[in-house]
Amino acid sequence: MPNQKYSEINLANKIYIFDTTLRDGEQTPGVALTVDEKIQIAQKLNNLGVDKIEVGFPASSPGEIKAAKEINALNLDSTLVGLSRSLNKDIDAVLDSDLSYIHTFIGTSPLHRDYKLKKSKEEIIESAVSSVEYAKDHGLTVEFSAEDSTRTEREFLLEIFSEVESAGADFLDVPDTVGVLTPVHTRELISDIKNNFKTPVSVHFHNDFGLATANTLTAMECGADQAHVTVNGLGERTGNCSLEELVVTLKVAYGVDLGLDTTRLYSLSHLVGRLTGIKMPVNKPIVGDNAFAHESGIHVHGILNNAFTYEPMSPEMVGHSRKIVLGKHTGANSLKSKLKEYHIDLNQEQFNNVFAQIKSLGDSGRCVTDDDLISIAITELASARETPIIIKGMNISMGANVSPTATVKLEIDGDEKETASTGVGPIDAALNAVRTLVQDTIDLELEEYNLEAINGGTDALAEVFVITSDSHGNKSTGRSTNQDVVLASILAVIDSMNKLLLINRNQ
Ligand code: KIV
Ligand code: ZN
Repeated sequence: MPNQKYSEINLANKIYIFDTTLRDGEQTPGVALTVDEKIQIAQKLNNLGVDKIEVGFPASSPGEIKAAKEINALNLDSTLVGLSRSLNKDIDAVLDSDLSYIHTFIGTSPLHRDYKLKKSKEEIIESAVSSVEYAKDHGLTVEFSAEDSTRTEREFLLEIFSEVESAGADFLDVPDTVGVLTPVHTRELISDIKNNFKTPVSVHFHNDFGLATANTLTAMECGADQAHVTVNGLGERTGNCSLEELVVTLKVAYGVDLGLDTTRLYSLSHLVGRLTGIKMPVNKPIVGDNAFAHESGIHVHGILNNAFTYEPMSPEMVGHSRKIVLGKHTGANSLKSKLKEYHIDLNQEQFNNVFAQIKSLGDSGRCVTDDDLISIAITELASARETPIIIKGMNISMGANVSPTATVKLEIDGDEKETASTGVGPIDAALNAVRTLVQDTIDLELEEYNLEAINGGTDALAEVFVITSDSHGNKSTGRSTNQDVVLASILAVIDSMNKLLLINRNQ
C-alpha cells in the first residue's frame, strides 16, 4: 500500500489474534463487566473471527469463573483462554472454569523478582516450570508469559523460556508489561527469541508511550506468531495494542488478510465503548467518529471525485461511514453535495447566502450540524417563496372554571380556514386549533416546546422555540418572538410547519 518495497519482513505463515479485552481490557481502571456483558462481547469477538479470547482471570473471583463457564457453554469457534499466576490454585480455577487453554505468567525482571515476588531466579524458574507441568498434566494447552520480559536480563529470559519449552509450553509470550519497547528494540528482541525457539512466539505489548501497535507490527515483521490485542486498545493504564489498528494495518498496509470480518469492527468498538463506559476520542484510528470525516473544501472536493484521495481505505471495510462536516473550512463542493443529499435546490443567490451563513457560523466557533444546514437552507427558500401557511387572526376566550377556547384563522395555500378548540390552557387551546386546521395538509408532531422571557416585567417579550416533525420523518425548528405568549407559540409552530412543507414539496 505505501509506495515502497519492504525489506526485512518475515511474517509468520499463520498469525494468531489473541484478544484480551475481557481480561487485560477489563483491568482498565474503572472498568468492570458483568457476566452478561462479557458474553455479549465474546459473541461479537467470535463473529469477528479472532483465534483466541482471554475470558478472564478465574482465580480472581467467582464471577470470573461463572463468566468463563457461560461463555464456554456457547461453543464458540474462538479458543477460550483463562489467565493464571504460576500457582496450582490458579490453574485449578482455570480447570474449574471448564477451559482447555491456560495463559500462565510469572514476573521475571529484577524489579518483579526482588520487590514483588521476593524470589531468586532459580525459584522463579522452578515455579514457572512446575506450573507448566501441572497444567500440561491436566490436559491444558499452555501459553507461558514471562511478565516484564522487556526489562528482564536477556540471558535469564532465554533461560526461562528454554525451561518452560522443555516442560511442554505451547506458546512463549513476551509481555512488554510497562510499554517500554520501541520498534528498533522490538526488532532485536523478537528476532533473538525467534532464532532461539521452535515454540510459537506471542507478544503482549502495552501502550505507555503510544507505541503498542507499532511495536506489535514490528514483532510480526520478525516472525512473531501471535499478537495479544484488545478492542479499542483498552487495558492496564494506557492500554494494549488495539485489535482494530493491528488487524486493519496488516490488511491494508501489509496486504495480510487474517480472515477476520473487519466490517464488524466499528460496531464491536461501539459495544465495548458502551459497556465499559470508555468512549473513543473522535480521532481514534479506524473507529473514531472522525476516522472518515472531512470538512476542508480541498479534501471534500477530492473525496467526491475519488474517496481514496483522502482516505487510506473505505469506511465500509470496517463497518464505518463517511461524513462530510460543514464548518469554517467548508468549500462550495461540500455544500452542494450536502444540499443534494437532502434534495434541496437553491439558485445561485440562495446558495451564496447559505454558504455565507455556514462560514459565519463556523467562524463564530460553532459546529454546523445537518439540521442547522436544513434550517438555514429552508429559511432561505421560504424567504423567496410564498409561505404556505399564514396566520390571519386569533382570539382567546377564558372564564372562571371553563377551559379556555381559542379561535384561530389561517390561510393555507391560499384558502382561509377558521376553527375553535379548547385546551388545558390558552396555548394548548390555540395549538389544538392550529392542528385541526392543518390536519389535511401536514401530519404534525410537536417534539419540543421551549418558552423564554427575553426581559423582565409583565410586558416581557416571549421567545418560543419549537421542534416539529412530520410523518415522513422530517424535522424542523421554528422560532418566534412576541409580547403575546400565545401568538408567539402559534407563530413558532407555523414557522416550523412552513419549513416542513417546503422540505416535503422539494423532495
Ligand atoms: O502486561 C502483562 O504483563 C500482563 C501479564 C499478565 C501477561 O498482562
Ligand atoms: Zn498486560
